[in-house]
Amino acid sequence: CRVRHYKFNVVMKNTTRLCSTKPIVTVNGKFPGPTVYAREDDKVLVKVVNHVKYNVSIHWHGIRQLRTGWADGPAYITQCPIQPGQSYIYNFTITGQRGTLLWHAHILWLRSTVHGAIVILPKLGVPYPFPKPDHERVVILAEWWKSDTEDVINEAMKSGLAPNVSDAHTINGFPGLYPNCSSTKGYTLNVKPGKTYMLRVVNAALNEELFFKIAGHKMTVVEVDASYVKPFKTDTILVAPGQTTNVILAADKGAGRYLVAAATFMETLAVAIDNLTATATLHYTGTLSSTPTILTTPPPQNATPVANNFTLSLKSLNSKKYPAKVPLTVDHSLFFTVGLAVNPCPTCKAGNGSRVVADINNVTFVMPTIALLQAHYFKIKGVFTTDFPGNPPIKFNYTGNPPANLQSTNGTKLYRLPYNATVQVVLQDTGMIVPENHPVHLHGFNFFAVGRGLGNFNPKTDPKKFNLVDPVERNTIGVPSGGWVAIRFHADNPGVWFMHCHLEVHTTWGLKMAFLVENGKGSNESVLPPPKDLPKC
Ligand code: C2O
Repeated sequence: CRVRHYKFNVVMKNTTRLCSTKPIVTVNGKFPGPTVYAREDDKVLVKVVNHVKYNVSIHWHGIRQLRTGWADGPAYITQCPIQPGQSYIYNFTITGQRGTLLWHAHILWLRSTVHGAIVILPKLGVPYPFPKPDHERVVILAEWWKSDTEDVINEAMKSGLAPNVSDAHTINGFPGLYPNCSSTKGYTLNVKPGKTYMLRVVNAALNEELFFKIAGHKMTVVEVDASYVKPFKTDTILVAPGQTTNVILAADKGAGRYLVAAATFMETLAVAIDNLTATATLHYTGTLSSTPTILTTPPPQNATPVANNFTLSLKSLNSKKYPAKVPLTVDHSLFFTVGLAVNPCPTCKAGNGSRVVADINNVTFVMPTIALLQAHYFKIKGVFTTDFPGNPPIKFNYTGNPPANLQSTNGTKLYRLPYNATVQVVLQDTGMIVPENHPVHLHGFNFFAVGRGLGNFNPKTDPKKFNLVDPVERNTIGVPSGGWVAIRFHADNPGVWFMHCHLEVHTTWGLKMAFLVENGKGSNESVLPPPKDLPKC
């Protein structure tokens, strides 16, 4: 194994999209940011230097960070932010993981432009469990706002209303052909006839799940969230914010140009391609550029069954070499409602004296001002409590209509787990305002998605149907709108680990909590000491 050194200079950069120019926060002046390459077992050192006016922190989304929570990155959870003019070296080892992940800013809404891919190759000499593709490409999906994204969320928090949606989606930084005033054709994926390509698709968008499709071509899904899956063919993939999907594309069509598109659920309700659809071009080299693009209807017109089929097709590879280590018994069985709520807000004029918030088990998480991991490690009192409820305080019943009690309470509450506990969490969408899909991300662990259903979770009958053989293993899972998902994991990583909805607006509103995993008794079972340059609050 090797040590990989990276330097991330966080700098402002004037960037033009949709006919207007604005300064954006970037890493090394790039949007999207640089790809971090490593192999399984490598040590990675990223020196982040903050040259902007905002506090900054970077999260390595999906990296296990075994005992190295100090390098995980969520501001005020595992570290204090890197202040303007300061720097911090993220120092971690990639253990037992290979595939595609992403890194992104984990403070304010800076993730909108501060993100990039992490490509972890297998150990030297270890092949992929599928035929080696001839080439590999990173494809990053994201969103673009004409306004400054900090203004967008700050205004929303003042008014109590929902923030504006983005003005365009992007593929590798560009909206492509359709958005009004898009100045370029967008990203071009050049392929040679007869070759195979692995596309490492990353959804770095703030608030949108995206369908991804290539006209005239099928894709073979081989990996999600840096875990191998049983390969299957599809013409559309669905990627939620924070998720990654590796597909193999065979360039086996006649010469031509084919449209590549990313679109949201909402767009599928109205029109096939609209000005929010991000597009790119798949180009067979040697083809004249005047050849017309072959059009596609990028989002499936009937999106819900397509999304369900895709989700249900995902299974762990579960081979001899890559067994699915699903916890078969459960020490901690938790039931978390996730959703939106409405709380009083006397100053919220636009919201008529109330504001939209979000919660888990009726707790709207309040960010502390000292990092939780520091408070835990140094035993600083008064920063958090460990009374996060394992079940909703008021028994939950999903009816599809908003329940009477729409309020939540505020708190910085953690749920305490002993080292090596086996944990099951049923995440149930409340549909308090409207049923919504919540891509929930757990830091520090991979989990197995053992069950999924619509309506109310039934604790008597549903567990009998759980898949404990080859459930998909991942770090971010969509809780179906008006439904539930059950996940299981081993609490084998001591520290403080954030769990939240990866739609940034829901995180801001409070759909977040943290697990505190105690140290074990063994010599390799406790949080390592913090690095000397750990930022101070
Ligand atoms: Cu990718 Cu806590 O986030």
